[in-house]
Amino acid sequence: MRIILLGAPGAGKGTQAQFIKDRYGIPQISTGDMLRAAVKAGTPLGLQAKAVMDAGQLVSDELIIALVKDRLSQSDCEKGYLLDGFPRTIPQAEAMRANGIDVDHVVEFVVPDEEIIERLSGRRVHPGSGRVYHLQNHPPKVEGKDDETGEPLVQRDDDKEETVRKRLDVYHSQTKPLIEFYSSWAQSGDDKAPAYIRVEGTGPVELVRDNIFQALEVK
Ligand code: AP5
Ligand code: ZN
Repeated sequence: MRIILLGAPGAGKGTQAQFIKDRYGIPQISTGDMLRAAVKAGTPLGLQAKAVMDAGQLVSDELIIALVKDRLSQSDCEKGYLLDGFPRTIPQAEAMRANGIDVDHVVEFVVPDEEIIERLSGRRVHPGSGRVYHLQNHPPKVEGKDDETGEPLVQRDDDKEETVRKRLDVYHSQTKPLIEFYSSWAQSGDDKAPAYIRVEGTGPVELVRDNIFQALEVK
């Protein structure tokens, strides 16, 4: 199973990725998590990416495409992969096609902008695993601690309201065109085209999860 998760910042890609990767036994490839790990480790990529991410802008297509190609060449991707946060520009999607990186399903999350701001201000994450919580909507069992490891949860540097608004602008201008790109490809009759799935990203996390699972079984 090869899947792309497509949606605004805070739409729930990381939250639902945890369920999907467990169900299908495929690795979650989150370009955001990979970049944050590079920033933390102080690698050349991390040093380049930090300022761009803190400003809510996108890292260059060239860097991201190289990062993803390298990750997909690892052996755990042979049985499939779950792309979370990639592609998010038309050139990234074109590069996938040009490199023969096939996909079975694109899942688009629909969430209104007002809800995004509220979700991201309450978000807390466990950096080691990518597990995601929310102070009100999805609190950890013990305040401030990851459910599985007990390690501390942190707030992401780019979750300040001003940066969230910038990230939303970038989503509308640079990532939303992918909705048209993939939905028209799906309708073209090309047998390489991934099936296009649109899910409501609002409502209980478990309901969103069940709707995704149901749609993934159909193709
Ligand atoms: P990235 O880490 O990919 O961030 P993003 O796309 O902005 O998405 P988020 O991780 O913020 O949201 P999410 O959809 O995963 O939501 P979550 O499940 O956490 O990228 C960060 C940066 O890296 C980018 O800005 C860019 O600079 C760079 N970058 C990454 N990829 C790149 C690329 N391909 N090209 C160029 N640059 C790139 O949920 C959010 C909150 O909502 C949580 O608190 C959660 O508990 C809560 N929640 C989830 N579902 C529900 C629900 N149903 N109801 C209520 N609350 C919910
Ligand atoms: Zn995420």
